[in-house]
Amino acid sequence: MSQTRSLIDILRTQLKKEESLPVLSKNSLGLQNEVIKKDPDLKKIEKMIKTDPSVTGHVLKMANSPFYRGLDQIATIKEAILRLGSVELGNLILQAVHKKNFQSRDPFIRLHQQKLLNHSILCAMGSFWTAKHLDLDDLVQQSFIAGLLHDMGKLYLLTAFEKMKTNNVMENQPPSTLVEQIIARLHPKLGHELISHWNLPESLCRIAGDHHSPEFDRNDILLALVRCVDQVCNKMERGNREEETAMIASSAEADILGISEIGLAEMEIAIEDYQEKLGLKKKAKA
Ligand SMILES: [Fe+2]
Ligand SMILES: [Fe+2]
Repeated sequence: MSQTRSLIDILRTQLKKEESLPVLSKNSLGLQNEVIKKDPDLKKIEKMIKTDPSVTGHVLKMANSPFYRGLDQIATIKEAILRLGSVELGNLILQAVHKKNFQSRDPFIRLHQQKLLNHSILCAMGSFWTAKHLDLDDLVQQSFIAGLLHDMGKLYLLTAFEKMKTNNVMENQPPSTLVEQIIARLHPKLGHELISHWNLPESLCRIAGDHHSPEFDRNDILLALVRCVDQVCNKMERGNREEETAMIASSAEADILGISEIGLAEMEIAIEDYQEKLGLKKKAKA
């Protein structure tokens, strides 16, 4: 155990170790890559889901949830595909695949993982809603996963901190504010590395890497979309302050997308609706 090395030095060493990289199984990667195709092969998806009991369970549970429920109970993946359609089904699969990476036994890490998972799902849903709302047909399919993965650098860092604790390389528990500052500073770069490591498309790596950069490619509409939705979700998480919507409406991202203050307010309502339907937020008492 080192007496003199700084937390950042220990972290840098830890990040070089393979064990710090959050793992996506081959099947998860295959599913993920199939789901984001323009014309996903539903037969192939059905086959891949069936080999993963936790994904099967999640998809069936969600297909029967009040949000998606039809008249009859759904018992098979085939029925779920028919009820939900490939895009909604794809979104549920992505949620299920990623949920597995957010189950630390350490209470501090788990709390941050939970916050990150909720934020990621809301950004995914917000991005999906916005792409549809703005008729960005070519981006609808990728928008959900782009929102879901934009902050995965945080997952990478949380995994590294967890390993540092279990490997007993830190003398003391570092202050949570310091850990949060480090995560806030380093997650874009590490997110880019992680998404490339998962062999996902370059467009998704760029979003992970550039979603906080002061300078960004204004021709990249998906990047502008995720940046805009991220701002809305962050604002909602901080508390619903009216004046911030006007600020987001005057941002470069809103300008690129051509989304108005009313459009942003509608996005917020759609995200809140989803939050309630997934049980991520308790309904306000009347
Ligand atoms: Fe971020
Ligand atoms: Fe974010």
